[in-house]
Amino acid sequence: MQQKIILVTGGAGYIGSHTCVALAQAGYRPLLFDNFSNSDPSVIERLTQLIGPSLLVLRGDIRDLATLKEIFQTYPCYAVIHLAGVKAVGESVAKPLDYYDINVTGSLVLLKAMKQAGVSRLVFSSSAAVYGEKTIPPFQEQALLDPINPYGRSKLMIEKIINDLYHANTLQSVLSLRYFNPIGAHPSGFIGETPTGTPNNLLPYLMQVAAGIRKKLFIFGNDYPTADGTAVRDYIHVMDLAQGHVLALQKTEQREGCWTFNLGRGRGSSVLEVIDAFEQASGQNIPYEVIQRRPGDVAASWADPTAAQQQLGWSATYNLEMMCAHSWHWQCHLDSLKVQRK
Ligand code: NAD
Ligand code: UFG
Repeated sequence: MQQKIILVTGGAGYIGSHTCVALAQAGYRPLLFDNFSNSDPSVIERLTQLIGPSLLVLRGDIRDLATLKEIFQTYPCYAVIHLAGVKAVGESVAKPLDYYDINVTGSLVLLKAMKQAGVSRLVFSSSAAVYGEKTIPPFQEQALLDPINPYGRSKLMIEKIINDLYHANTLQSVLSLRYFNPIGAHPSGFIGETPTGTPNNLLPYLMQVAAGIRKKLFIFGNDYPTADGTAVRDYIHVMDLAQGHVLALQKTEQREGCWTFNLGRGRGSSVLEVIDAFEQASGQNIPYEVIQRRPGDVAASWADPTAAQQQLGWSATYNLEMMCAHSWHWQCHLDSLKVQRK
């Protein structure tokens, strides 16, 4: 039987590359589409080693309608997994126009191209950032959506656009997956997160401290109303997240509909707890300094993942220690793999 081709926008990125591996393992043929603005092209070679030569790769921008039209004309895409976008909460507060342009305009252009090509199955990477801070975690999907930063608002806008397109019969089967905080790396150590410039996210920064690239970690505030004062997040292994995309895709094969699911472990960990888990998993000491809060951050965020468990058959399998161990394994491989740090 011919493999179904799945267009994966942002496929060279952190979550995208792991999702391509999970898709290939499940028998799909990923078509990776990326402009490499936040990924290193060398990931393609490493992905090919993991997946084999069936991986399709195209360079381009999701805001370029002509390119997307050509892709849909050339390849019979069964569905789209849309991950391309920008994702740093703090940066979105400083550069909202970039966030609305890349995330919202980019999604609109992609959706237009999908409509023209008659591609009506979509899995969209939304975020826990849509919930805001008025709701007390664990967040259920039906909770108040009140994002407190431009990044979260951009994701909520896209969710709403997607819902409208479903009700207009433009999309037939569509899932918005609200990711919590993916960390970790593929257990092989071949792929992982390679942020451009100074990392915005906790784990990439922390790993660069452990690797001696940076002197210390800066903790953004220890005066939050949490047990130890540092902010709490729901950290989830990136391979568990990748598997969530496979199950979401399978859902689009089974039924028409429009769904939203949290993908999180349902457990919160503070910044200090993550440092502790990482130190245990890596044997490295992490020096840190507490500084002021980062604008746009909420105090605590973790998921109620019941809906994904019941309706997708998905649940997270890795604990925090394994996530930290795989992150560190990846970091230790970076130099030998000649991955560029931009
Ligand atoms: P990432 O930066 O590693 O991957 C995004 C990829 O998209 C990169 O390879 C980048 O080069 C590409 N890209 C960016 N703009 C593009 C454009 N205009 N055209 C084509 N490609 C473009 O980020 P990630 O962590 O893999 O996140 C993937 C998606 O998941 C994003 O939409 C992000 O908002 C969402 N998300 C991420 C997290 C997280 O903590 N990592 C949490 C919730 C949601
Ligand atoms: N933090 C630090 N120091 C750092 C980096 C982060 O103390 O150098 C803290 C943050 O203040 C926050 C926690 O670590 O309390 C996690 O921060 P991240 O930047 O790793 O993650 P965010 O929760 O801010 O956001 C991430 C992604 C978003 C996504 C969200 C989902 O960047 O795209 O998770 O919960 F939407």
